Amino acid sequence: MKMGSSNDKDAVQEQYASSKSLDIRLNFHNMYSTNRMGFGPWLVSNYEITEGMKVLEIGTGTGSMWVGHDDLITKCDKIVLSDFSEGMLETAKKNVGERENVEYKQINVQNIPYEDSSFDIVIANMMLYHVPDINKAVSEIRRVLKDEGVFYNVLYYGDFDIIGNLSSQSINYYPMMYGRSISALDRDKICFSCGKIYRECDLSVAVVDTSIYTNNSIAFEPTVDMAVIASCIRTDSNEPFWDNKRKNTNKKDLRDPLNHKDLDKVLNTFGLTKNDITDLNCS
Ligand SMILES: C[S@@+](CC[C@H](N)C(=O)[O-])C[C@H]1O[C@@H](n2cnc3c(N)ncnc32)[C@H](O)[C@@H]1O
Repeated sequence: MKMGSSNDKDAVQEQYASSKSLDIRLNFHNMYSTNRMGFGPWLVSNYEITEGMKVLEIGTGTGSMWVGHDDLITKCDKIVLSDFSEGMLETAKKNVGERENVEYKQINVQNIPYEDSSFDIVIANMMLYHVPDINKAVSEIRRVLKDEGVFYNVLYYGDFDIIGNLSSQSINYYPMMYGRSISALDRDKICFSCGKIYRECDLSVAVVDTSIYTNNSIAFEPTVDMAVIASCIRTDSNEPFWDNKRKNTNKKDLRDPLNHKDLDKVLNTFGLTKNDITDLNCS
């Protein structure tokens, strides 16, 4: 799924009708992540859940993040694992199991069926980018959280560390986006984002055509070819990845070394240099 359709309701429903695609992606991380602790366990290790809390997870997916964390689950007075996909909930139920304090519920984050201030913690990982009305989603989450409650929200970046399993020392590892403003109300702006950097300026000053570059994020390309990734790892180079990408799409990618001249021009448009983005290395 390309970034442009990542919050298209029908495309998202189709992608998550069952856990099949998500299982492939989670398995991919398990096999190739350079961080041996693993993303899921790292995430969960940051939750500050104390005795008697009420926890709501939105977009639980396969529930796999909770597997092996019985200690946290049993601390909760109540934990609601929710997703808008019935197929996902079935898988989550199998993975986490039936427990007295765990409820499985079909919920769309844009309309959370709980009263104000119902939860101490709301968790919504790697899912807000799928939501058509993100303002509604965030205000619903705020509404059901207690005033002193905590919202845990992680978005996807990790895939880029594993393009070629190399250390994170190059701009090629960061999701990079260049295009018309992400606000549908503001179409005469262009934006650039890379890592934590986000810049906008007037469309009139763009020197590089926005339409030839895709919104880049492998996270949204579940068709990523495992043989290609394996070849990157074997040759210790990202070239097989780029080679494959060039063959399979007519859109270009600013991170592709072949397009770095355009990247320089784009950076210059936003008053940035390559140093600004290489300083982002995951420290
Ligand atoms: C990328 S998966 C993330 C799953 C899980 N949070 C994780 O970290 O592994 C996104 C999940 O969000 C769910 N989802 C997408 N849009 C949703 C919405 N509007 N309301 C609730 N869940 C949604 C999908 O069904 C899918 O299970």
